[in-house]
Amino acid sequence: MYLTPEEESILGGSAGESAQKAMELIVALGKVYDADRLVDITSAHLSGASYKTIGDGGLKYLEDVSKDAKVKVTATLNPLGMDRDRWAEMRIPEKFANKQLKIIELYEKMGVKSTCSCTPYLGANVPSFGDHVAWAESSALSVVNSYIGARTNREGGPGALAAAIVGKTANYGLHLKENRAPTVVIDADIDGTIFSHSLLGQAAGSMFGASVPYFRNISPDIDSIKTMAAAMAAAGSVAMFHVENVTPESKLYDISGLEVVHIGKKELGEARTTLNTTDDIQLIAFGCPHLTVREITEMAEFLKDKKKIRNDVDIWFCTSSEVRSRCADQVRILERFGPVLADTCMVVAPIESNYQRTGTNSAKAGNYLPTLCSQNVMCRDFAKLMELVI
Ligand code: F3S
Repeated sequence: MYLTPEEESILGGSAGESAQKAMELIVALGKVYDADRLVDITSAHLSGASYKTIGDGGLKYLEDVSKDAKVKVTATLNPLGMDRDRWAEMRIPEKFANKQLKIIELYEKMGVKSTCSCTPYLGANVPSFGDHVAWAESSALSVVNSYIGARTNREGGPGALAAAIVGKTANYGLHLKENRAPTVVIDADIDGTIFSHSLLGQAAGSMFGASVPYFRNISPDIDSIKTMAAAMAAAGSVAMFHVENVTPESKLYDISGLEVVHIGKKELGEARTTLNTTDDIQLIAFGCPHLTVREITEMAEFLKDKKKIRNDVDIWFCTSSEVRSRCADQVRILERFGPVLADTCMVVAPIESNYQRTGTNSAKAGNYLPTLCSQNVMCRDFAKLMELVI
């Protein structure tokens, strides 16, 4: 793999120990995946922000790296294990909260923006078409590849942080045009709801794993794209997909000759069945990925004349602090039912300490709640979940 004199010099330690280690990691990945060179990146998005997911080992790692490292590009963070201001309401122990706050401080010391959302492409970190970037967070990186047309591999937390520190990543995988080509065509037959797009992503991800699907017969907006991307990434490691006439690269490839598969009502029903493991719940959590202004507005509209009558079920609405601050009126309505939490989510918060059965309208959460939070899951659309408590 070719390295410029400057890259060789960073590898030799000229920019400090952390930059050297970051470069070593990027070069090692490049060699494994047969990259020809490194490419400059314009931004990074880092996972590994929740104390629940990184633990004391991750905290120690960040303490070491932050001694002499600064990020060279715009870098944002994934959700935390708690709302920074409302963690007591979430029944988070003080010890957890203190460690979580320390993690944020260490990232900020390195110059990372502590916006802490899985939808940074809606405001805090918006790449342009054709940019090379290094993003972790499987749903966000898939949106960036598929809806914006920027280029990223499915980075892990350490890889994305290393790339942010040196401002470069290795040129392989989805950074190369040939690897972004569709591998299967999916003729979808679904209604236009966001929930149906989530189940479509679940069905496609389960069927085709780490493929590059090309969808026809749907016209999703960003709200539906994000939920589809999240479900496909969780169910099948999909990091890139095309939607005919919607995603920017959908016209660049010849899809004749590819296998064509139909996904309709039956497959969506099967997808939903596999995600449902309980018919009773203690918590209903919305916002995986984080709720957008449109979703919050529609939820508030649905709930404005209603009243919560079951007090044995908690409700969380998860979003970014930026979106929450833009929706003050809608938030007032939602808060009659449960807290609108910022910069955290039901999967990376330690909900297993307080709940065993959770309802969600997200197929991604439906995949992860059992494995990462020991939950039994009820997966239904927003209205059907709310009908259980109003
Ligand atoms: Fe975001 Fe948490 Fe879901 S990080 S995509 S809300 S699992």
